[in-house]
Amino acid sequence: MASKSRDYAAKANPRNGRCRLISGNWKMNLNHLEAISLVQKLHYSFRESDYHFAEISVHPPFTSLRSIQLLLETDRVPISLGAQDCYFESSGAYTGEISASMLGKLGVRYVIVGHSERRELFGETDEIVAKKANAVIASQMTPIVCVGESMFQREEKQTETVIKSQVEAVVSSMSSELCEELVFAYEPKWAIGSGIPAESQDAVVGANAVRAAVSKYHGEMVANKVRVQYGGSVNSANAKEFLDQAEIDGLLVGGASLTAEAFTAIVQA
Ligand code: PGA
Repeated sequence: MASKSRDYAAKANPRNGRCRLISGNWKMNLNHLEAISLVQKLHYSFRESDYHFAEISVHPPFTSLRSIQLLLETDRVPISLGAQDCYFESSGAYTGEISASMLGKLGVRYVIVGHSERRELFGETDEIVAKKANAVIASQMTPIVCVGESMFQREEKQTETVIKSQVEAVVSSMSSELCEELVFAYEPKWAIGSGIPAESQDAVVGANAVRAAVSKYHGEMVANKVRVQYGGSVNSANAKEFLDQAEIDGLLVGGASLTAEAFTAIVQA
């Protein structure tokens, strides 16, 4: 793969001063050979302007992190490495768990915490999510904190209340300095993997609710620095509409991040 040595840093969005982040959450998909192949294909298909438009991160399963780290470093691929979860303790008798510091050593920059699948299938509470977010920060990485309501909560008009309490659990005991570095992903549970994305205006409501909760503890300046992605059934046909909203700083993409064609089409939307 040809190495590219120029500056590929994402440029700030002139509408709000924040850099966009488009992340591919691969979930429990692709072995390490398939993962290498996908990253190579992505790098071939991204244009220089794509890297300026948004920082792009990929979040493979733990078993592929080392392979992808080596690929990114050796070929100087300007894609950021991400993980999908971590444990909040730094080491010890926690069979099967991976600590944030281990991820940091693998060149990971972003760690998703509190994904709704973790909350639902693995019983993660707001308290656990907050501990994980702090562990990620303590290892000099950035957590992508997922928040979002269920269909029932939406129908009960609890969307903003749910988001507020999920965000507060993470930011209430954090310094403003650390808080402004956070990335949130507003992912309505009913939109994840369902093929039914939120309307862009719903996504804006979600992003505003995140910032309102941050603002309550840290003021508006900090809230305006926090980045908020939208996630849930994002594809190349709807990505632009979300990215066009000044309140939305990027996307967290599941299913459509698993092929180079689909993910590239989203980034270039
Ligand atoms: P989806 O998943 O894009 O497949 O809906 C998004 C996510 O779970 O982060």
